Amino acid sequence: MNSAEIRESFLSYFETKGSRRVSSSSLVPDDPSLLLTSAGMVQFKPVFLGVKDLGFMRATTCQKCVRTTDIDIIGTTNRHHSFFEMLGNFSFGDYFKSEACAWAQEYSVEMLGLDPDRLWYSIYEDDDEAERIWAEEVGVPRERIVRMGAKDNFWSAGPTGPCGPCSELYYDQGESVGCGLDSCAPGCECDRFLEYWNLVFMQFDRAEDGTLTPLPNQSIDTGMGLERVAAILQGVRSNFETDILRSIMARAEELTGVAYGSSEKIDTSLRIVTDHTRAVTFLVADGVLPSNEGRGYVLRRILRRAVRHGRLLGRTEPFMAEMVDRVVELMGAAYPEIAEHHDLVRRIADSEEQRFSTTLRQGLAFLDEEISRLKEAGSPVLDGRTAFALHDTFGFPLELTAEIVAEAGLDVELDVFEAEMAAQRERARAAVKDESWTSFANAFNEIATRAGQTDFVGYERDDATATVIGLVTGGASVEEIAAGTAAEVVLDRTPFYAEQGGQVGDQGVLSSERGDVFEVTDTTLPVSGVISHRGTLTSGTLRLGDTVSADIDVMRRERIRRNHTATHLLHWALRLVLGDHVRQSGSHVAPDRLRFDFTHFEAPGADQLDKIERMVNAKIMENHPVRSYETSLTSAKEAGVTALFGEKYGEFVRVLETGNFSKELCGGTHVARTTEIGLVKIASEGSVGANLRRIEAVTSFDALEYVEREEAELAEAAAVLKVQRFDVSERVGTLVKRVKELESAKERVKENLSAQSIDALLAEAFDVGYQLVITRVPDTDAGGLRGIADVMRARMGGGAVVLATVAPDGGAPLLLAAGSDDAVAAGFDAGAVIKAVAPHVKGGGGGKPAMAQAGGKDASGVDAALAAARDMLGTPE
Ligand code: SER
Repeated sequence: MNSAEIRESFLSYFETKGSRRVSSSSLVPDDPSLLLTSAGMVQFKPVFLGVKDLGFMRATTCQKCVRTTDIDIIGTTNRHHSFFEMLGNFSFGDYFKSEACAWAQEYSVEMLGLDPDRLWYSIYEDDDEAERIWAEEVGVPRERIVRMGAKDNFWSAGPTGPCGPCSELYYDQGESVGCGLDSCAPGCECDRFLEYWNLVFMQFDRAEDGTLTPLPNQSIDTGMGLERVAAILQGVRSNFETDILRSIMARAEELTGVAYGSSEKIDTSLRIVTDHTRAVTFLVADGVLPSNEGRGYVLRRILRRAVRHGRLLGRTEPFMAEMVDRVVELMGAAYPEIAEHHDLVRRIADSEEQRFSTTLRQGLAFLDEEISRLKEAGSPVLDGRTAFALHDTFGFPLELTAEIVAEAGLDVELDVFEAEMAAQRERARAAVKDESWTSFANAFNEIATRAGQTDFVGYERDDATATVIGLVTGGASVEEIAAGTAAEVVLDRTPFYAEQGGQVGDQGVLSSERGDVFEVTDTTLPVSGVISHRGTLTSGTLRLGDTVSADIDVMRRERIRRNHTATHLLHWALRLVLGDHVRQSGSHVAPDRLRFDFTHFEAPGADQLDKIERMVNAKIMENHPVRSYETSLTSAKEAGVTALFGEKYGEFVRVLETGNFSKELCGGTHVARTTEIGLVKIASEGSVGANLRRIEAVTSFDALEYVEREEAELAEAAAVLKVQRFDVSERVGTLVKRVKELESAKERVKENLSAQSIDALLAEAFDVGYQLVITRVPDTDAGGLRGIADVMRARMGGGAVVLATVAPDGGAPLLLAAGSDDAVAAGFDAGAVIKAVAPHVKGGGGGKPAMAQAGGKDASGVDAALAAARDMLGTPE
């Protein structure tokens, strides 16, 4: 059976057992506790925990998975993969151990045709029930059931969540394959006993502190490695020799010109390129882009490791995009998303490869030098600062550096590297954060403990009557503040929105019953649930317990609302126009502008930006209602609400719904209907990092002003050009064309002059003991004039010239005199001539006997100047 046949046989077998065939979920899990989907059960976690009901109790899947724990081992073995496919069957509180074991046996023997005498079974050390089921119900020989500890036979997807004891099926590949030791048995490091199927008996939910609580229902989660089963069925020793992987490797052989089997080193590199290409393809197709954090970093590490091994195989040109083509060709039918995003994957792989290629060679040279230096010095460790420099300057992921130095038998000083990284992160954080505010948190915690949290009433209203429950100044909690004090005021309730989720804090006033006014310049959330009004008391005093009227600056808030809803519209349009991989990575919503950062791998075209702006404005004019409601995080996700990547949400969330097309989790303040936004204009778009773009836009009054400024610019241009506004571009086009024509005409004049008219000028030469030409030449600039003088002198074979011209732009007269050594010896003095004649053109200048120049202001004196030169040098009229 080839891989496609195995997939199909597994899924249809479990369909006959009443399971629903469910598609593979994305590699990017819907679960903040996990970086990537690493097992078939990930998409069913909430079902196992009893917080979600699918409406069916048995499922079967072929799940794409990525595991990242041992990336550096991948390639050195026949079995490790970053990306792999896991076949699974699941019971949600329905069948349990008996069926799971019986069906695993039946499928292995009846459907896959495995020899039952070669099958072994491991069980968790305490699980007598599993032993009984295997031996008595399924009827396998007791001597082939082995007990193992929690490390091997207790399974969980992570530190917390559903888990339970498990039982694994092993296939004995025969004595010839193994280590040959007497102790060799399932669990041995060698290749003889191949573990191919894990049956997990989901019984517990593990909490952060490690306690196990029984799950509401006992469940089943099994996982069978497709690559391993394919290797058994296809009779090959390595997963890399099964149909799909071997074909991907064949492409790597073609592109690098080396053959699998030539040497262990070559095979390792080929396996790395083969394995990693699949991971890259599937990760990008699921929306992961290379970056320095989280999933993006996993992708970057894998991609860069593959690129380096491609270079080790001798390939100097980019090759990853072509590798991707093969993966899509082989797996696109089973996973349509990679075919759909084929082009995107190629481009990302290619641009990341190019980016890394430019520094890879320099980085390797640098590292090689370091390694030889260390070896000479007999030092076994590459220092952390060097590893950090490689990371920072050459883009070497730490793991790559570690792998390269390990090849030379050295280690990396990890703690110093980590310290450097932490220091860099800290610098970055300090650069964006006003430190003084964080130290204030204590005072606010104390207020929250004493007086409770602030009730935010600003979704519904712009003002409120409230009680002062906290006053903070200079970092300390106080009971009273006096006029002129800069302070922070905490109220029991407030309409002021605290800066959060990219939306800036409100401004406004708090006025006491006595008529004293506290001007609020910013509102923040120093600790969760406590809203702080930051500003200055302009008169009187303010005390704890005072009643105040809190009024926000309504017009300013109005403008913030418009900008906030506009960012949602922009997000919606960006995803439609640029693709689903676009994800919000930050935003700033102020009264006068908005900023939206998102992931994308290239600059959007002007036509795409136009389209985005038009789509947003169309949604504005269509006057859609904007609604918000609270719901549980689970039902929001089920309803397909867009949540921000990596953001932590509480159990209850606020959903912001615009029309029926945009749904986002958002705590911000918004307009009631889209028409309130008026108009959106995109003011700029640019890159703010690798695969990170930023759009700045304005709405309502600011958009109007923006358009007015553009219009005024256009009106001014039209006035200068003396045309209607709608004719400006046409007129400018004509003018640009005309300027180009004139410039090339000018060039031609210069060339003609030097080529043809020189003869005519030379015909005017007189002998005054040396050859002398005094003449006016056609209009040219100072450079042109010098050129003519040089050519003339060269052609005269010595002699002297006195030339005049008028510069074509500006009409300034220019004079030049120049003589050969012979002429100077015979008494010619260019400096003296120019000095004497320049006043005729209201100019000044001078130079040496061999060469002098002058510029003037009066072109009408040119002829008089030349006449004066003739008088002086004694040539006939
Ligand atoms: N979740 C288990 C595993 O990954 C069985 O599918 O091994």
